[in-house]
Amino acid sequence: MNKVLIANGVQVNLKMLNRHGLIAGSTGSGKTTTIKTLINKLNKEGISVLATDVKGDLAPNINNINHPKITHKFGDMNSNLLGLFLKANEVQTQALHILINQYYKDACDLGSLDQLISCINGALDYHTAWQKDGKTSPNTLATLQRLCYIARDGGLDSIIDDENFDYLELLNSKANILDCTNFVTEPEAYAAYVLTMLDSLYKTLPEVGDLEKVKLVCFFDEAHLLFKGINKDLLIKVEQMIKLIRSKSVGVFFISQSPLDIPNEILSQLGNRIQHKLSAYTAKEQKALKATAQSFRCLDPKALANEIGLLGIGEAIISMLNQDGIPCMATRKKVLTN
Ligand SMILES: Nc1ncnc2c1ncn2[C@@H]1O[C@H](COP(=O)(O)OP(=O)(O)O)[C@@H](O)[C@H]1O
Ligand SMILES: [Mg+2]
Repeated sequence: MNKVLIANGVQVNLKMLNRHGLIAGSTGSGKTTTIKTLINKLNKEGISVLATDVKGDLAPNINNINHPKITHKFGDMNSNLLGLFLKANEVQTQALHILINQYYKDACDLGSLDQLISCINGALDYHTAWQKDGKTSPNTLATLQRLCYIARDGGLDSIIDDENFDYLELLNSKANILDCTNFVTEPEAYAAYVLTMLDSLYKTLPEVGDLEKVKLVCFFDEAHLLFKGINKDLLIKVEQMIKLIRSKSVGVFFISQSPLDIPNEILSQLGNRIQHKLSAYTAKEQKALKATAQSFRCLDPKALANEIGLLGIGEAIISMLNQDGIPCMATRKKVLTN
């Protein structure tokens, strides 16, 4: 009842999926296979899924699949996220904020990077007025423009459109797999894309509180790319979104090699844990392994650390939340493949 089996004797409580989760492990340890199992099992229960496919290996063996095209509108993007997307520094991001919000939001249709470039041209034409108002300097604007050209020529404007995606469409009880292969070498753009989706999901979906089964579960792969370049303001915003999206009946799973790829503020909110093998050769990796073992509910963290280093392919240390929201004792199991 409202549970699915993901390994022999290990059940996932569908009510508790809005308490989020982490799937971690070294390359080849079985993360993608585990995501596929979870997607198929949840979807069979009527739960909608949204998953980013960064390496192009997620779609095979997924049932009831849908490939949505999710684009964002410039004007609706948080300027911090837009700055991240363009790899802008703090001053440039502030200029972007002013540009979009105070001057051009209503007058200009910001549907593409080319249109943003034109807007900056307009601002440059009036740079004397801009400077006099203490808004921003022509140099900053010109740099922003160069960053736009670089993003555009790198093909990154495929995520930008003049229309916003309707996020309610994701509540379609399907496995929505998003092609993100473009982003594998573009961490900032990937982060801006995914975090804007989270922001939009939060803004669009209605407040429903805790349901017996969550409505939507998101799986964000290559999560180390998400947090690499984000500034403190943005991190605080992401932390808030992750907390608040729970009452929208949305669960978020981050998938990464090591739990240390995820900032502590976010990590502490990921209640359901599946830890595949974590190789630890360097001192830093040993430390990560130790910290990982200590984050599980277990009797002997030292023995658990040892065990995590010795797991076979597909095996994992699993601790899911029970119906009272308490993490189960960590247990070593092989994740089912279907
Ligand atoms: N639970 C499992 N049972 C059997 N084979 C598995 C299991 N998990 C992974 N594998 C095999 O191991 C290989 C690597 O798994 P993958 O899920 O792609 O790892 P990762 O995403 O961590 O790099 C795949 O070829 C897959 O067939
Ligand atoms: Mg993988």
